[in-house]
Amino acid sequence: MAIRKIVQIGHPILRQRAREVTRDEVRSPAFQVLVDDLIETMKDANGAGLAAPQIHESVRLVAIHVDKNPRYPHKPPIPLTILVNPVVTPLADELFDNYEGCLSVPNLRGVVQRYAHVRVTGWDRHGADFEREAHGFTAGTFQHELDHLDGAVFLDRVKDPRTLTTWAEFDAHHREAFLARAFELVAKYGG
Ligand code: NI
Repeated sequence: MAIRKIVQIGHPILRQRAREVTRDEVRSPAFQVLVDDLIETMKDANGAGLAAPQIHESVRLVAIHVDKNPRYPHKPPIPLTILVNPVVTPLADELFDNYEGCLSVPNLRGVVQRYAHVRVTGWDRHGADFEREAHGFTAGTFQHELDHLDGAVFLDRVKDPRTLTTWAEFDAHHREAFLARAFELVAKYGG
């Protein structure tokens, strides 16, 4: 296992559509090493999730894990989840506002609208079928990571650029109000 370098915004790989993975490929030792590297890199950077293109691998693979995350204290826990060839489907039109950040977009957060209720399907790291529903911030985390596989970053979805803030200014001016609203959303939607 190895901690990989995280690609930063401006690198063309973040703007490409990542390719599908075959079942044979999922079962290969090289792919399993890639999965382990993705997990280790995500944990090292305190990420809530990381997509393979962010570590220079343009394949449809993401890792998600939320457990008392210091970058996102409002997020309900999500067990370590590996998704291959994932698809996200909204279950309702309802949207909510989420303050997002990204390990490939240094020191910036902004408000993005996400579907409040989604179904996520795909494979796990061994190629077995995966399906779950997600709500609220957990749904937002899945949508953020899956965007990376289509060459999108959260900045593309920021409707009002005036919501953009560095992390220090977020802590100073937006954190309190956001967290108060965030805990209401968690109470409403759960994970
Ligand atoms: Ni990201």
